[in-house]
Amino acid sequence: MCSIIGYRGKLDAAPLIVESLKRMEYRGYDSVGVATSNEGKILMRKGVGRVVEVNKLFNLGKLPGQIGIGHTRWATHGGVVNSNAHPHTACTNDIAVVHNGIIENYMELKEEITNLGHTFKSQTDSEVIAHLLEIYYLDSKDVKEAIIKTCKRLQGAYAFVAIFEDGVIGGARYDEPLIIGILDEGYFISSDVLGFLEHTDRAIFLDNQDIAIIDGGELQLFDFNGLPVKRPITQVAWELGAADKGKYAHYTLKEIHEQTSTIIQAGTQNIDRMQNFCDIILNAKSVYITGSGTSYNSALIAKQIFAKFAKIRVETILSSEFQYVHDLIDNNSVLIAISQSGESSDVLQSVKTAKQKGAKILSVVNIQTSSLARISDSSLGVNCGPEIGVAATKSFTGQVSLIYHIADNLCNNCIGFVHKNKELISAIEFVLDNEYKIAEIANNMKDVRDIYLLGRSVHYPLALEGALKLKELAYVHAEGIAAGELKHGPLALVDLNTVVIVINPSDATFNDTISNAHEIKSRGAKVIGISDSENHLYDQFIKIPKVSELLYPLVEVIPLQILAYFLALKKNADPDYPRNLAKSVTVK
Ligand code: AGP
Repeated sequence: MCSIIGYRGKLDAAPLIVESLKRMEYRGYDSVGVATSNEGKILMRKGVGRVVEVNKLFNLGKLPGQIGIGHTRWATHGGVVNSNAHPHTACTNDIAVVHNGIIENYMELKEEITNLGHTFKSQTDSEVIAHLLEIYYLDSKDVKEAIIKTCKRLQGAYAFVAIFEDGVIGGARYDEPLIIGILDEGYFISSDVLGFLEHTDRAIFLDNQDIAIIDGGELQLFDFNGLPVKRPITQVAWELGAADKGKYAHYTLKEIHEQTSTIIQAGTQNIDRMQNFCDIILNAKSVYITGSGTSYNSALIAKQIFAKFAKIRVETILSSEFQYVHDLIDNNSVLIAISQSGESSDVLQSVKTAKQKGAKILSVVNIQTSSLARISDSSLGVNCGPEIGVAATKSFTGQVSLIYHIADNLCNNCIGFVHKNKELISAIEFVLDNEYKIAEIANNMKDVRDIYLLGRSVHYPLALEGALKLKELAYVHAEGIAAGELKHGPLALVDLNTVVIVINPSDATFNDTISNAHEIKSRGAKVIGISDSENHLYDQFIKIPKVSELLYPLVEVIPLQILAYFLALKKNADPDYPRNLAKSVTVK
């Protein structure tokens, strides 16, 4: 959940690293730091805050030297204070290290290292890496040996990059990504291609348990046993780096607006690849879908769509729960993993478990160079371009759109989804054109403490998704409830101060959900209706156009995203970087 970057080459390292960190800040944005190696000395500056703020305060980009490392942090062990910001040094200041992941056995290691006379300066798990490297490096003066010995001691998931006093850069990965960027003027080593894509599209994706050493102008790769390994150079799509806010105040708003095109792009798939993906589903005895957060909400929609149209029974499992409930998965199973980043630790862990049990792995993933895409038997791209805002918006509608395309393929085009593009786009445009009306509703909700969202059938996952957006962007307690469940408990919570959003387009669920709106109304709560059909029960009404039934989920989510965005603004929250969160959750 942190970003790490290293550079060694002919250019000044620190300014390059600062720019890279800005691009990767979505991975964590509690604190930031840079260290360079210059004339045999390691220089370091770090602090709490966003890259721009800390750079302004401490001139990170002004550190001299053509060798350096940098880090943005999402705190796991130890509070958000300067001393816990990376890079970390050990006792001699001859080695500095940046780390992404969690070292599970850090307490034992810390005790052991302390007993050797070392002093720790932070509460992080990461600092043990710096001390271990120092111990083994002082012993041998050999970077490769120091890294191998260090890796053998670490348990957990990690990628780290270290600079040594003599200017050598070394990195290693275990269950966290690490990618080399190749320039004419040197090498980057980074947790994401976004760290170097501005400079080069030539990348080497390190395999798990690989070590990279950049010494002088040379890159060497080894496995954890010290044996040399070769990894192919991949050309990465430049578009991944094409992320700016354009005319919008925030990435989140821009990404909400991009949905008129990204929803269509999701359907642009290679025919053979799609066929192969669907054949694997059709040949499986049992189909499971997994994902986290928003991607899990997409999985819930997939379950309903696959059953309704493709007549395929699917079981959904939250990725974070997967390790406890995989008993029935075997070599006749297929696991479909849905993920925007393709780097979520819980998702990758589920895939690993399913693979070990012989299941085939399919993925629906936005970042096609991600770990998930690379370990899948077949993978389809969501194609929505880089999503920088921490809240998933266009990746959600892209995932759902792609799910419809897959379902169509599985049922010999019984949905005809591709023919509904025009209808879908014009409905989304209508909602976006009326964005200001939703902003007005948000303006009056600043002091609301509890919001419940109700929906039935396929609108229930949308209620969950709307609640997730409101929680993460606007820091308000919000709960998605299957509308029929209201009377089984949650109704007790409803009073004059409650706001209930009813997702109620005119389909088969309409009348039953209206009955629920009556129940809420008679308890004095305020009702906001999202529908194509107005009703006297709604205190406020967000109109969506009437569309073919199966398009409603893709349309009704847009006003929910907009509402959460404007409520965040009203509460002075930064919608792009919600507190305590990160875009890629690469820890358990
Ligand atoms: C959604 O708005 C969240 N930021 C979060 O729930 C996210 O969907 C989840 O962490 C999964 O990420 P992934 O799709 O990259 O795997």
